[in-house]
Amino acid sequence: MEFKKNLLFIGAGYVGGPSAAMMAYKCPQYRVVVVDINQERIAQWNSDKLPIYEPGLYEIVKETRGRNLFFSKDIEDNIRCAEIIFVGVNTPTKTFGEGAGMAADLQYWEKTARHIRQYAQSDKIVVEKCTLPVKTALAMEEIFNSSNGDIRFDVLSNPEFLAEGTAIKDLENPDRVLIGSRQTASGLRAREVLVEIYENWVPRERIITSDIWSSELSKLVANAFLAQRVSSINSISAFCEAAGADVSEVARAVGLDSRIGNKFLNAGVGFGGSCFQKDILNLVYLCRCYGLYEVADYWEGVVKINEYQKERFVLNMLRTMFNTLVGKKICMMGFAFKANTSDTRESPAIYVAKRLLEEMAELIITDPEALRSAEADMKEIGGNIRFVDDPYEAVQGCHAVCVMTEWELYSLLDYERIYKSMDKPAMIYDGRNILDHQKLFDIGFNVFPIGKPALRRER
Ligand code: UDX
Ligand code: ADP
Repeated sequence: MEFKKNLLFIGAGYVGGPSAAMMAYKCPQYRVVVVDINQERIAQWNSDKLPIYEPGLYEIVKETRGRNLFFSKDIEDNIRCAEIIFVGVNTPTKTFGEGAGMAADLQYWEKTARHIRQYAQSDKIVVEKCTLPVKTALAMEEIFNSSNGDIRFDVLSNPEFLAEGTAIKDLENPDRVLIGSRQTASGLRAREVLVEIYENWVPRERIITSDIWSSELSKLVANAFLAQRVSSINSISAFCEAAGADVSEVARAVGLDSRIGNKFLNAGVGFGGSCFQKDILNLVYLCRCYGLYEVADYWEGVVKINEYQKERFVLNMLRTMFNTLVGKKICMMGFAFKANTSDTRESPAIYVAKRLLEEMAELIITDPEALRSAEADMKEIGGNIRFVDDPYEAVQGCHAVCVMTEWELYSLLDYERIYKSMDKPAMIYDGRNILDHQKLFDIGFNVFPIGKPALRRER
């Protein structure tokens, strides 16, 4: 079959995979290919067990794979064939050299740009999908234009705002699609090509356009604002615990103000995920590069509160378990950074696990989708850890349970049964405030929510 356009996604991760699948699903007239340097990942995308868990993703991949969606190991040939190339490679925080721990590591992105330049034989539109520092498009253009010849490259910024766990919903019905371009005739033409693709399923008024730098910055700022809300409510949760107030009541009252809104006000053990911390640190780094020290300090505060919240959670466990965790069995319910994903990147559970192991506790980790990732995360750290699929088996003989991820499954468990199988006094630390605290207390547990008075038996 003759396809109207050839689209290529480079990077088959949490952003590239689902974005490509949705485009193929909504636009059967286009051929969509996904490539990755990680051959095993491509093999998984071609199998029945996809490399990432995302509700609804498998169904879409099943319908489109082999029809107009293809996962391929051949980067070179696919770059040659594609008219439009979406770049969704990883841009983690740098771990070495200048800017270590703050700046984005751009090595994967730059390698991709060089591959594109090397293999391209015709004009290309190159779309930045991953979060990148402001002005990366400029560097990309410099690499592309450094080759001889008359191939034209137009770089667009089209940041992806999907959240994990709801990626399919977010891609199918986005709040907005943002496309940044150069304001030149060629840049504006390239922008229209991308607008046309999205118009296949997104209403035109939700496709917004801007200059390229504003588009790049908007993605960093959106994540910074979202993370700031989480840190704001988490800071208030500490206040509520000290003052005997209830953070859920405060969030409800505050969120009913339509100027503030009620979303993203759930206090918890801290935010995780591959984006929030990375993007804020990157923003902080860029602010310092521009000499904006006060602005940098302001945003750094969001990450500091997040660190504080995770440490506060651990210290609360230590203090309420009689100041020693040595040899105590603790079940961690959930390891993913949020529900409905198998992703554990920057999960608060990693920090909490490390700290509990430092206190010489024994850990039993359970999670319905992220157990394999948890094993990989904890491999380096070592210590007394078991990974158990069945939550009832995981809690047996434990002194404490801590809820790390808001999987619905955990609010539906039989806690009478769990209480009976645990060591006494049995403690529950609800790091996501998803359980019925009074009911747990009535069963016999000592209950420690976030930002609410603890329910503890008289001693
Ligand atoms: C985020 C942005 O939401 C998304 O737009 C962007 O494209 C990528 O980064 P993601 O990291 O997948 O998405 O998940 P998100 O739902 O934003 O949650 C991030 C973290 O904040 C999670 O650990 C979550 O548990 C935590 N969180 C979120 C809270 O603790 N409380 C809340 O009220 C909301
Ligand atoms: P994200 O959450 O941003 O999607 P992931 O780490 O899940 O990030 O995915 C990024 C993918 O990009 C990985 O599968 C990685 O192997 C791939 N990748 C990195 N560099 C290149 C490259 N030069 N060419 C092709 N794929 C790459």
